[in-house]
Amino acid sequence: MVSDIRLFAESTFVEKAQSYQTVLSSRGVSVNIEITEKLNARFLRLNPELALCVDSSGLSLSANGMKMQPDWKAEIPRLKRASIKSEMIARACNISEKPLLIDATAGLGHDTLLMAYLGADVSLIERHPILFTLLEDSKVQAENDPFLSKVVSRIQLIFADSSEYLNQAILEEKKVDVVYLDPMFPQRDQNQQAVKKQAQVKKQMQLLHMLLPEDGEMDLGDHLLVLAQQIAKRVVVKRPRLAVFLNDQQPDHQWQGDACRFDAYFSNKVIE
Ligand SMILES: C[S@@+](CC[C@H](N)C(=O)[O-])C[C@H]1O[C@@H](n2cnc3c(N)ncnc32)[C@H](O)[C@@H]1O
Repeated sequence: MVSDIRLFAESTFVEKAQSYQTVLSSRGVSVNIEITEKLNARFLRLNPELALCVDSSGLSLSANGMKMQPDWKAEIPRLKRASIKSEMIARACNISEKPLLIDATAGLGHDTLLMAYLGADVSLIERHPILFTLLEDSKVQAENDPFLSKVVSRIQLIFADSSEYLNQAILEEKKVDVVYLDPMFPQRDQNQQAVKKQAQVKKQMQLLHMLLPEDGEMDLGDHLLVLAQQIAKRVVVKRPRLAVFLNDQQPDHQWQGDACRFDAYFSNKVIE
């Protein structure tokens, strides 16, 4: 996990940069602020290593000349096209019942945003300190957006390792309707199809992969399934279409798409 990172800021954003530095330091990331005259495309090309940037669009991650942030506002057109009927994830997670849902592998939070838009109440858990801080920034921006403000009022961000969070929830005998899991992709030799998809992942996902550990040390999240099953009526796992089952556990039901599928595990084994 990244513990030292550079943060580029133009002189007008130094104060903002310092506040991110304080927040990230409280989360174990040491940030070195570098002031630059212009944070433009040329500057990003000349500084290709992984870094953070602060400008008028808030906090973002940069590498290889690209910039990335969860950018929930950019998801608005997709949300406007979405419905419970048309979205496989909504059917898999039974969103029509307006469930209490834990998304235990937040990433960029796009799946959560869609489920919250369609009516779920979501606790969104991310353990990576930089990703979590990017998510927090996206949420604040969304709170000030007339279309998104109501949607994000149904999202609670939690900075934690989901294994610890779920273990605690089990001790407290907490119950939720759904736990949603979308852990990192399976290893290359597990699924050739998944590798092809990985090569095509869009810009945002490329940067996400740079931030997160490489294949060898990648945590595939198998243990999360067993924990989630102890507190949820339904656990839904997103997988690349041909990937092996999480924790080698055969699901009770599957929804198959072109690129991915959703495996569902029911606590009472009744398919709704
Ligand atoms: C493939 S991404 C999820 C993408 C997400 N569904 C979206 O819509 O953007 C997986 C994320 O889960 C996070 N993650 C994996 N295991 C975790 C754990 N035990 N606790 C918290 N976060 C975890 C990773 O840091 C990564 O950001």
